[in-house]
Amino acid sequence: MYQIGEEEIQALRRVIESGRLFRYQGDQPSETDLFEREWAARIGVPHAVAVSSGTAGLSCALAGLAIGPGDEVIVPAYTYIATALAVLAVGAVPVLAEVDASLTLDPADAARKITPRTKALLPVHMCGLPCNMDALTALARDNGLAIVEDACQADGGSYKGTRFGAIGDAAAFSFNYFKIITCGEGGAFVTQHDDVYQRGLIYHDAGCPFFRDISEVTVPLFAGMGNRFSELLGAVLRVQATRLDGILAGLRAEKRRLRAALAEETAFTFSPVNDPDGDCGAHLGLLFAREADARAFHAAAPGTGAWIPRDTGRHVYTNWECVMERRGAHVETRNPYAASEVTYTQDMYPATLDVLARTVFIPTTPARGDAEFDALVAALQGAARSAV
Ligand SMILES: Cc1ncc(COP(=O)(O)O)c(C=O)c1O
Repeated sequence: MYQIGEEEIQALRRVIESGRLFRYQGDQPSETDLFEREWAARIGVPHAVAVSSGTAGLSCALAGLAIGPGDEVIVPAYTYIATALAVLAVGAVPVLAEVDASLTLDPADAARKITPRTKALLPVHMCGLPCNMDALTALARDNGLAIVEDACQADGGSYKGTRFGAIGDAAAFSFNYFKIITCGEGGAFVTQHDDVYQRGLIYHDAGCPFFRDISEVTVPLFAGMGNRFSELLGAVLRVQATRLDGILAGLRAEKRRLRAALAEETAFTFSPVNDPDGDCGAHLGLLFAREADARAFHAAAPGTGAWIPRDTGRHVYTNWECVMERRGAHVETRNPYAASEVTYTQDMYPATLDVLARTVFIPTTPARGDAEFDALVAALQGAARSAV
């Protein structure tokens, strides 16, 4: 959402002038330590670890749950490719399932994809939209599965009053440039479980015991990654986090206003949302009866920011080349697919492809003036009336 200003500049100045750019320097809590505490408190979990990206956060969450070779994780067929790649990174295999009209993991299809190898569900709160966590939690409970929430596009959102990240067993957030709050690149994983935290912590930086007291960690150390966080980013994120609820309030208000302004249109219905109050509000989804109608509307609405999720490249499974072709690692001996029968075909998730092609997203912004808003509504109404 790139709302960034003087406070972030001052935070950066403070870190640079302190000379403490490494999170484990000194004996006082670092900016990164403080961000982790504040983020955990905001989400409502005991543990948060800041990491280099959302992808790293997902891998840490999965590693924290001891998911690895021989395991399968159910991932929606509509998400950024990184969700599936994080599963492969820990040695497990992503099994894809359809999304429903909410554009999030379809619990009924996820149920059909469970095998004796399934260890976790990985629902994605795509575009800030809440997954159906009641149904997914029940499914996980009935089948002895863990839940890892991918909240990378949904910093700060919630489901029925609980923030994303505090519902599943572990979760990941992204703070890259395109996200609701940002420090350019960065991420975090959170969990309510001590053992998941400990394994995820070790996985993110197997060298951390050289730098800090981790006497509270009882999980034996194992080889991990280099996903440590920077003090500069930590300082920026602490400020960004204070902006989060204001940004969400602005997005949600504009989404409500836009929905009300378009309520009389008959060309489309609004995409169903599993929890409108918890939705980040970053997009209004318009659902058309036919792909041709969605495309005609889109073509008639230039300058509105409208986009069709079917056209977003690496967010659609058909474009996940390395997944589709089962190249799960840099060498075959590390390729999780080598010991798996899971295969993929281009047409294997028809319901996902269908709903992605019939949906048009209108992005919201927390800072649009009245005149601009009215012009947006007029353009969308004009497109709706001319196209269908
Ligand atoms: C749904 C989803 N999951 C995971 C990621 C990965 O986050 P990052 O780019 O910070 O690694 C992204 C980022 O775009 C995402 O949108």
